[in-house]
Amino acid sequence: MPETATTARPLPGAPVAEAVFAEVTDRVAALRAAGTVPALATVLVGDDPASAGYIRMKQQRAAELGFASPHVHLPADATRHDLAAAIDSLNGDPAVHAILVQHPIPAHLDYAEALLRIDPAKDVDGLHPTSLGRLAAGLPSPVPCTPAGIEALLAFHNVPVAGRDVVVLGRGTTLGRPLAMLLAQKRATADAAVTVVHSGIPNWARHTRRADIVIAAVGVPGILRPEHIRPGATVVGGGVRYEGRRLLPDVDEACETVAGAITPRVGGVGPTTVAMLFRNAVALAEQATHP
Ligand SMILES: NC(=O)c1ccc[n+]([C@@H]2O[C@H](COP(=O)([O-])OP(=O)(O)OC[C@H]3O[C@@H](n4cnc5c(N)ncnc54)[C@H](OP(=O)(O)O)[C@@H]3O)[C@@H](O)[C@H]2O)c1
Repeated sequence: MPETATTARPLPGAPVAEAVFAEVTDRVAALRAAGTVPALATVLVGDDPASAGYIRMKQQRAAELGFASPHVHLPADATRHDLAAAIDSLNGDPAVHAILVQHPIPAHLDYAEALLRIDPAKDVDGLHPTSLGRLAAGLPSPVPCTPAGIEALLAFHNVPVAGRDVVVLGRGTTLGRPLAMLLAQKRATADAAVTVVHSGIPNWARHTRRADIVIAAVGVPGILRPEHIRPGATVVGGGVRYEGRRLLPDVDEACETVAGAITPRVGGVGPTTVAMLFRNAVALAEQATHP
């Protein structure tokens, strides 16, 4: 076998997502049978084609799963008051159960301010400080979608996490930080010894090299290379950077020759993130209906 051959077991996200969608479909059917049409509202500010594409994809999936998907499209020059008013209107609409403000928003607006404006009871991304605080306290809440998707992906593919050394590269609020909290929780699919490394840790590779599972959550293409991982370790690529429509993952392709299991460069964490969005949405609709 040539030295560069891929030896790692692939960990695709699609079958994980399909399993979650099947569960969500049943829960939507139960809600509809009881007279509630679950609704995931989306807000898009501006005309970024990639963001518009994500919204279309989410609306299509919403329709397939039986959700209503009311949409608010604000112009690129919308003010913070316009955005706040749009969110307030959705917050106040009892037919809307979940609200997603598509990221990124134009630079003159503040995404954190928009997130804070969303009613935590409709926080489908699980990124409102109330949701993150509940996650930290171990209370039920919508869990940020990409971290939840990674936990589900590892469980689905029978990668042992409990009792193992997990190193998360990156401490960002959407991925690394909540993921570290999640995988350290007392639960069969978590229960790990989690270490978080970041740009403040010189030679972070001394941590990743001893890990059973390394999760890249940075957004610097190719930052995780084969020499940073232990042969046979599991590698999950969460971080990506987009250059136009080109997706550049954190995980260097050559990691496939060293890892024991690895997410594919395309179709790994992404599909599970979308699935978790709808799992959060149906849970919020259930919560609103049977608080
Ligand atoms: N696949 C998906 O569906 C999905 C969903 C959400 C996010 N993501 C991706 O996940 C990545 C992280 O997202 P985020 O919002 O958490 O990002 P973020 O807030 O920008 O955090 C990035 C983290 O990476 C660390 N970092 C940056 N350069 C580094 C370096 N050279 N060495 C070590 N650490 C470094 C930063 O360290 P400091 O804290 O020290 O600055 C920070 O903790 C992004 O690529 C994002 O696109 C993907």
